[in-house]
Amino acid sequence: MRRIILLLIIFLCINCKNQPAAPTGLVAEKAMVVTAREEASKIGLEILQKGGNAFDAMVATEMALVVAYPFAGNLGGGGFMVYRKSDGDVGALDYREKAPLTAHKNMYLDSLGNVIPGKSTVGGTAVGVPGTVAGIMEVHAKFGSLPIEEIFEPVIRLAKKGIVVTKKQAARLDSYRNRFIEVNGDSTFFATPYLEGDTIKYPALAKTMGIIAENGHDGFYKGEIAQKLTAFIQENGGYITEEDLAKYEAQWRQPIIFNYKDLKVISMSPPSSGGVTMNQIFKMIEPYDIADFGHNSTKTIQLFTEASRRAYADRNYFLGDPDFVAIPLDVLLSNSYLQERMESFSFDRATKSSEVERGAIEIVESMETTHYSIVDQEGNAISVTTTLNGGYGSKLYSEELGFFLNNEMDDFSAKPGIPNMFGLIGAEANSIAAEKRMLSSMTPTIVEKEGKLWMVVGTPGGSTIITAVAQTILNTYEFNLSMQEAVNAPRFHHQWLPDMVIFEPEGFSTELKSELKTKGYIINEDRTPIIGKVNAIRVLPNGKLEGGADKRGDDTAVGF
Ligand code: GLY
Repeated sequence: MRRIILLLIIFLCINCKNQPAAPTGLVAEKAMVVTAREEASKIGLEILQKGGNAFDAMVATEMALVVAYPFAGNLGGGGFMVYRKSDGDVGALDYREKAPLTAHKNMYLDSLGNVIPGKSTVGGTAVGVPGTVAGIMEVHAKFGSLPIEEIFEPVIRLAKKGIVVTKKQAARLDSYRNRFIEVNGDSTFFATPYLEGDTIKYPALAKTMGIIAENGHDGFYKGEIAQKLTAFIQENGGYITEEDLAKYEAQWRQPIIFNYKDLKVISMSPPSSGGVTMNQIFKMIEPYDIADFGHNSTKTIQLFTEASRRAYADRNYFLGDPDFVAIPLDVLLSNSYLQERMESFSFDRATKSSEVERGAIEIVESMETTHYSIVDQEGNAISVTTTLNGGYGSKLYSEELGFFLNNEMDDFSAKPGIPNMFGLIGAEANSIAAEKRMLSSMTPTIVEKEGKLWMVVGTPGGSTIITAVAQTILNTYEFNLSMQEAVNAPRFHHQWLPDMVIFEPEGFSTELKSELKTKGYIINEDRTPIIGKVNAIRVLPNGKLEGGADKRGDDTAVGF
């Protein structure tokens, strides 16, 4: 009898370990939208409730974020979308900004060849040709089901009615106010101090959106808006012309697709480095039984850090706009190459980044992007990351048109490194050229398990995006956390250079950090900011959806 009870307990334990974690986030029966702001999530859902599909909801959500989250939501920026239709068809859209026609390799250097501070980050000179309107119109033309005016209607209503300022938004606006004034003058729209609970109305933006809703792609890239926008950017020293706008097109891309154990991961391809770098990280850790090491244990952190170190070194060296540079993806993603890459790894001591070849520059990227995830009632899924690059982009704000412009030109390598022993120049792949797209880290991702939709995930966070997305997937798959727990869990990051592990302020013990230090890891001792704001959806075994809306922001999941 005792033996039977013992066997029963062992069976239940094993079975319980194999059961996916019970949900702790919002659970919805059929459809879900998770974004950085409740207002944007609700507008996406409203479109689904009207009978629109995930692609219609994408258009509405992207536009609602311009109103509700101008920090990163944008008309003057760009982004990437990965989709998986209910029939299993997958694809990716690149609506990344690109360099204007007059751009050239040394445009941000002085006569001595030094980078001119601020020129690629602040004001008109920093602005790349915006891609967002081309992106949403391309999505709508290919997959949309509702009329575009109907999709824009709640967004324009929101812009007129206004947004109630949250505590976090008030703090952000306050910390950026002086920079808005420096770039735009003291009568600029955002010179007004906004407090928590105030309402901000956007009449100029509502008018601009009305014109876009009526005229589609050309409503932004040609005619009245194009003329006003280019005149404004040029008055502020920038380079974008009406020809630049007229020539801009979003590009459909083949996503990066790879298997990790029994998962199939579908993520963004170049000009984003997200999918390639994440693919390399996952393949380097796959041979290890990371679940047995434990969540955020010393061994897990070591393994993940060493894989990231090697993957980011490759990222910095090889990746750029695939329309301009040949990227050796077959080698970079091959098992033999990645196994070889990990041959120098040992749990006894940290590898030094100086011992890892490739790469010539550090990545310095802005953290201020935004991500949203949508699953509709038919089972279509979209994963979108969109950005102005820095918080409020270049800070250049068109009072007349009602939106901020990006500073995405800073994502190029303004000063490529020196030739290596093979005569190749590090970061040349991401040097500036006319009409080229700057390298990104945005990693909108969709994951299948056993051939079915399992997760939609992504985050802001500049170069930390890739590690944050990978850790969220591992948290759920290997460490059996619920979607919400996986999103909330503390994160760490390593990106080859600077050679240090960054930890979020909470959740990592002094003992753990000391143990890593004894193994030779350099730990960033400063109080680091948060790493990412992940917004994700998990499909539960019963087909319901669990949202993971990051507790680090005002992020909100809604569903029905
Ligand atoms: N601007 C941040 C990124 O594209 O990764």
